Amino acid sequence: MNCNSNNNNEKNNVNNFGYLNDGRVSTVITLKNSQGTEISVSNFGATITSIKTADRDGVFKNIVIGYSNVTPYEKGTPYFGATIGRFANRIAKGKFTIDNTEYSLPINNGNHHLHGGDKGLDKILWDIEKIDPQQVLLKTISADGDMGYPGDLTVQVKFSLDNNNNLRIDYQANTNKKTPINLTNHSYFNLSGDFRNQINNHELILNATQYTPIDSEFIPIGELRYVRDTPFDFTKSTIIGKQIIHTPSGFDHNFVLDKEIEHEMYNDLYRAATLTDPISGRQLQIYTTEPGIQFYTGNFLNGTLTTENGQPINKHTALCLETQHFPNSPNEPLFPNTILDPGTIFRSSTIYSFKVTSKQF
Ligand code: GLA
Repeated sequence: MNCNSNNNNEKNNVNNFGYLNDGRVSTVITLKNSQGTEISVSNFGATITSIKTADRDGVFKNIVIGYSNVTPYEKGTPYFGATIGRFANRIAKGKFTIDNTEYSLPINNGNHHLHGGDKGLDKILWDIEKIDPQQVLLKTISADGDMGYPGDLTVQVKFSLDNNNNLRIDYQANTNKKTPINLTNHSYFNLSGDFRNQINNHELILNATQYTPIDSEFIPIGELRYVRDTPFDFTKSTIIGKQIIHTPSGFDHNFVLDKEIEHEMYNDLYRAATLTDPISGRQLQIYTTEPGIQFYTGNFLNGTLTTENGQPINKHTALCLETQHFPNSPNEPLFPNTILDPGTIFRSSTIYSFKVTSKQF
């Protein structure tokens, strides 16, 4: 698709998102629904750049960290809003073996490989396959050997916003060689829409009775542990700040989603999380087909990056809820499988459902 400079397609809200260092133009597409919710997605990194939702008084604010131009994304952010792949989260020492062949991936996080490497799916310009007023379909082909991964991997991600304030993200992929895959979206939420506020007052439910404990380098030790009687217990609505003080620097853990609760099912997806800001009344409900969710409280945000309007982005001022398979799965045979075979289609879906709650007295 060819989008020229300043080309503004009113009907589909397609806009120039600025130029990459190599001169290519990037694009941002804004999806709008009948309730006034607006979600912008750029084809650079298949990135959600803004989500504007109403609070309980009908005041719209952007509730994710994002920018209105590609430059800060190309310079590098901690994955603000991006599509993460080929493998979201960590692969220990960047190594895994498939059918007796050992593969080595770039080490970009301490001793380990994180989020697909330094030029993962978050750093490339995706092709725009289709734009409708409430839907955009992006596609890319990651060649055999890209960031060390085997196989030509074709990936599609579709963002659809319906009139009930559901943003559905559907991922699909296929390969011509066995390869690990784990795709997620890395949006940083603050439901107050004001990134000067910490997220400590937000209330969280995670539909997870277990999590994957990690070592000092954030690699799962291979077992599942019950959250009961620990700071990881978010099975009932819990104020994040009450639990975060019992962790060394915040949450950065994968929770194992309980999938057997049938009445929680939502069109084949299971309820994963409910996040509420009691002050604005904004609520985010997350449903997914994935077995896990990484709850990350922005522990590495340290004020050096700023928001679009120049505010420093400090620790714990935004959080991520990344639906995913478990970290380091290619090296953990007991974790759900992440190896995609040629001839099969990878599918994964997540819904972010935006609601408002009434005031509690
Ligand atoms: C993930 C990881 C964190 C951190 C952030 C990006 O969610 O789990 O440890 O690397 O991405 O800063």
